[in-house]
Formats: sequence, C-alpha cells, structure tokens
Amino acid sequence: MSERIYSRIAGTGSALPARVVSNDELAQRVETSDEWIATRTGIRQRHVAGEGETTVSLGRDAALRAMEAAGVEPGEIDLIVFGTTTPNLIFPSSACLMQAELGIAGCPAFDVNAACCGFVYAISVADKFIRSGDAKTALVVGSETLTRMVDWSDRSTCVLFGDGAGAVVLKADSATGILSTHLHADGAKKELLWNPVGVSEGFKPGEDNAGVRVLMTGNEVFKHAVRALDSLVDETLEANGLDRHDIDWLIPHQANLRIIEATAKRLDMPMERVIVTVDKHGNTSSGSVPLALDEAVRSGKVQRGQLVLLEAFGGGFTWGSVLLRY
Ligand code: COA
Repeated sequence: MSERIYSRIAGTGSALPARVVSNDELAQRVETSDEWIATRTGIRQRHVAGEGETTVSLGRDAALRAMEAAGVEPGEIDLIVFGTTTPNLIFPSSACLMQAELGIAGCPAFDVNAACCGFVYAISVADKFIRSGDAKTALVVGSETLTRMVDWSDRSTCVLFGDGAGAVVLKADSATGILSTHLHADGAKKELLWNPVGVSEGFKPGEDNAGVRVLMTGNEVFKHAVRALDSLVDETLEANGLDRHDIDWLIPHQANLRIIEATAKRLDMPMERVIVTVDKHGNTSSGSVPLALDEAVRSGKVQRGQLVLLEAFGGGFTWGSVLLRY
C-alpha cells in the first residue's frame, strides 16, 4: 500500500499596512461610535492600505515571512495559490504578479476568488496538489485591500473591513498535516453580500466607476453565516471521527466576534482556545484566517502536534473548513 502524503504547514507569515484607523476616527466620518462598533462586532480598529501598499505587496511580504519561518528558499516553491477578491489587476493574477516579485518563474500560479473564504479555498486546492504528488512545496496566500472598494459614507459596511495578508508554506510530509478540507458554496444568495461591478456586467465604459463598492445586508448574512458554520463544524468532526472536545484551537474567519462566539459555543470551546484578531484587524476577508494563524503560531499558542480547525464564510455565499494537525 502506498504511503499517505499530507500537506504540513512548514511556516506562516503575515503583513499589515502601516496605517491604523480607530473606531473613533471613523466616527468623525460617519454617524457611528466606538461603543456601537465594538458591541455589535468586536472591532476596535483596522489597518488601511496606503499608497504603495497593495494586495500583491502585502501578500509578498507575508509570503517572504512564511518562507523564512519554513526555512524555504523562493526557488523551492513549486506552486502558488493566492486567495483574493481584491486583486491588483484584472489580469495578470495577483499570484503571477507576486511570483514575479519573488523571482520564481516557472511554477503554476493562480488566484482563487471565494470572497472571505479565499484562503480556505486556496489551501484546500494546494492540499490536493500536494496529496496528488503534483507539488511538494506550495505557497498559499490570503491577501486583500478590501478598504479600496468600501463605500466610506456607508456606516453599515465601512466600519467592518480592514486590509492585510497572511501566508503559509505547505510541504509534502509522510507523517502529519492537513487531515481534511470541506468546501461549500451557494450562489443563490449573491445579493446579500456582493460588489455588483465587474468587467462583463456593471462596468460602464467611459464613466467614472469609482462607485465600485461592497453591498451587504448584514443581519441576513449574520444568520446565514452562523447556520452554515454550525453544520460545517459538525461535518468536519464527523468526517474525521472526532468529538468536539478533541479540537485544541479554533481559528475562525474574523468578521464579527458574535459569529465567532456562536461557533465556539457549537464546539463547547472556551474562548481562551479561540484565536481572535477581529478587534485589531477588522474583517480582512481572505487575509483573516492566515493572519490569525500566524499570530497564533508566533505568540506560541498553537504548538506542533495540536489539532487546529480553520473555518470561514464569505460572499457567494462560500464557506469552508480545514482540519489539521499543526
Ligand atoms: N453605527 C451605528 N449604527 C449602525 C451602524 C453603525 N456603524 N451600522 C448600522 N447601524 C444601525 C442600522 O442603521 C440599524 O438602525 P435602525 O434600527 O434605525 O434601522 C441598526 O444599527 C441595526 O442594524 P442591523 O444591521 O440590524 O444591526 P446588526 O446587529 O445586525 O449589526 C452588523 C450589523 C453588520 C454588525 C452585523 O449584522 C454583522 O456583523 N453581520 C455579518 C457581517 C459579516 O460577517 N459580513 C462578512 C461575512 S464574510
């Protein structure tokens, strides 16, 4: 019988824009307050990309840190999967642009757009490349500059988002790593969370398209997210024959503290074993899970050998999980 190959996380990295915007600063632009934002979402501040800071530059910085942590040279990377819904350009992909900056031409490089679930989708795809033997050392990135398409006059959305990136190096390993991934989507609910301007639809040639913005029916998204994540947690545990108490760490998508707490409750998990960064980063979409993972690893919380559950929910709708032994 041939030996099972796993994708093991060999190193993590992250990057954030320099500028921090507090809730109080936002309250000077729109009718809101630190109290409202913190109570409803858990967010206290977010990083906002400035000039020269882009989805690709943040992704590249996170990738370099992940490679350094893994002890991997850029030339060893044989696959790049880049989760983003705010690419630098329509094409080439952000994966190709980052690949050029890293100087590693030749290996396959492509973007995955699954909105806030982008990193979970990307790592799942990379895991399949590794398990099939088509890649040995993959770079997986989640990077976003969501604030570039936020309507700064809409208080129901502009307070929620931030910019940032995270990355992991995945290496083929015969001992341990990703145990399973579970991906889902339901395109029927697209209008509850979307940006209705694209190339083939919504874009008006010759006109100012600066209106490109995120639209969301927040309370509906909230309900769908909690419901989908509940059944996703059950599905992931069942697929691995595990009890909810077996999980050491939950690293959820950081959209809203109340959604995170609902998932922790489903797992009967104390909040001390849940990685929370939404207070500092806001919702960084595809960046959120790898940013939280990197913080958990670098702070010494997540240790080698522990069982870690990653999960995310985003526009599409898309939702997914990754269960791994770190
Ligand atoms: N400051 C002050 N008041 C605000 C506000 C803000 N920033 N944003 C909205 N409000 C107001 C609304 O206008 C509404 O007022 P009204 O009752 O007079 O009409 C009131 O607050 C309640 O709005 P509602 O949308 O029902 O609030 P909520 O408790 O659902 O919280 C969200 C709003 C957006 C924080 C919450 O729904 C949420 O987090 N949803 C999920 C979002 C998400 O996770 N998206 C990304 C998934 S990847």
